[in-house]
Amino acid sequence: SSNAMWGGRFAEGPDAIMEAINASIGFDRRMARQDIEGSRAHAAMLAATGIVTASDAEAIREGLITVLSEIEAGTFQYSTALEDIHMNVEARLTEIIGAPAGRLHTARSRNDQVALDFRMWVRDQADAAIDALPRLMAALVAQAEAGADWVMPGFTHLQTAQPVTWGHHMLAYVEMFGRDLGRMKDARARMNECPLGTAALAGTSFPIDREMTAAALGFDRPAANSLDAVSDRDFALEFLSAASICAMHLSRLAEELVIWSSAQFRFVRLSDRWSTGSSIMPQKRNPDAAELLRAKIGRILGAQVALLTVMKGLPLTYSKDMQEDKEQVFDAADSLMLALAAMTGMVSDMTAQKDNLEAAASSGFSTATDLADWLVRVLDLPFREAHHVTGALVKMAEDAGIDLPELSLEQMHAVEPRITADVFEVLGVRNSVASRTSYGGTAPDNVRAQAARWKEILA
Ligand code: ARG
Repeated sequence: SSNAMWGGRFAEGPDAIMEAINASIGFDRRMARQDIEGSRAHAAMLAATGIVTASDAEAIREGLITVLSEIEAGTFQYSTALEDIHMNVEARLTEIIGAPAGRLHTARSRNDQVALDFRMWVRDQADAAIDALPRLMAALVAQAEAGADWVMPGFTHLQTAQPVTWGHHMLAYVEMFGRDLGRMKDARARMNECPLGTAALAGTSFPIDREMTAAALGFDRPAANSLDAVSDRDFALEFLSAASICAMHLSRLAEELVIWSSAQFRFVRLSDRWSTGSSIMPQKRNPDAAELLRAKIGRILGAQVALLTVMKGLPLTYSKDMQEDKEQVFDAADSLMLALAAMTGMVSDMTAQKDNLEAAASSGFSTATDLADWLVRVLDLPFREAHHVTGALVKMAEDAGIDLPELSLEQMHAVEPRITADVFEVLGVRNSVASRTSYGGTAPDNVRAQAARWKEILA
């Protein structure tokens, strides 16, 4: 049979494959709540402006409440023939209230409708991320406070570089997630313009009140250009972009947790709740959540590339290509929220292995820079020369199979006779971190001050 919505012009119904490729109801049902909320605001506006009668608007309002309750109860019968969530809801509304349902679509098109629904859906996800990120940051700040003065190796090239503190390392991620939070908030602020009432693409001749619907739906203002409003998917792309950067940060931390929980590092112990065993190797405690988290970035970044690719060749305004905007974003948002929750759980529960951290920090000539700085400060050597002298001392220690603090003063004198015994003070890792008092440096007092600053921001 021909279509109930546009049957007037059609003699025959679609091919089964046409129906399959055309339908989005399999996934866009996730926007049912937003669709109904948008329709309720639209109907209320149509009544307020006298475009439909108050009694028709009331019938529509009540009918939509019934439809939503059916959807929430799981009794709603979705139909592929009805293509998408918009037509599924409207068809059911027609079954429930009859003729007045036909007036709901006045001064509206599925083009502004889907732009609205999807925008509200993405806005909800941005809100969820804005809610979740501070919880992860608070878990990291708690780790930082507990271990503000625990010494660990800082790495470059994954080679021991200089001693740092556990707290400083935790707060590095707080800075990153803080920027992610800022990006999500920025994206949320920019997306908060309402496309409803831009209709198919050109606006409408009905005397609608777009300020009213925009306000009712929590938008800052109505979108100013109808062509842009129906064809813009920047809001989703910006969400994905903020999500991708955040997922990249999650993935870097996850990578560190994988490395740190290994038997070779033993920097952290993940709790039982966040570890899995092996069916064959009884000793195993695998960091599966961290590994999966590390992999989720692929989906999120992939979604961003996919949607950019969908959009980049489309002439204004709507093209059906844009129906392919949703599934990727749904999946990316699910992945991000799951990853944020898993990371928050892992970080809250993990135990830093303080002694192992300090032992690791004390090997690998991690205080060589402190020694070079001492030569500059006390003996007034130019830094380049101090670097050279220190290099010779490191080689001497390495050849002897010992670390820098274990060299005797006599051994050092073979390289630089002016070195005095107080050099040993800077060769210890605790003194090393305590000396890094420059703003942003790893000294425990700095870490405590920064942790306190973040606690205040997050409170
Ligand atoms: N299901 C469609 C989508 O997701 C809704 C918009 C349909 N608009 C149209 N002109 N066919 O994009």
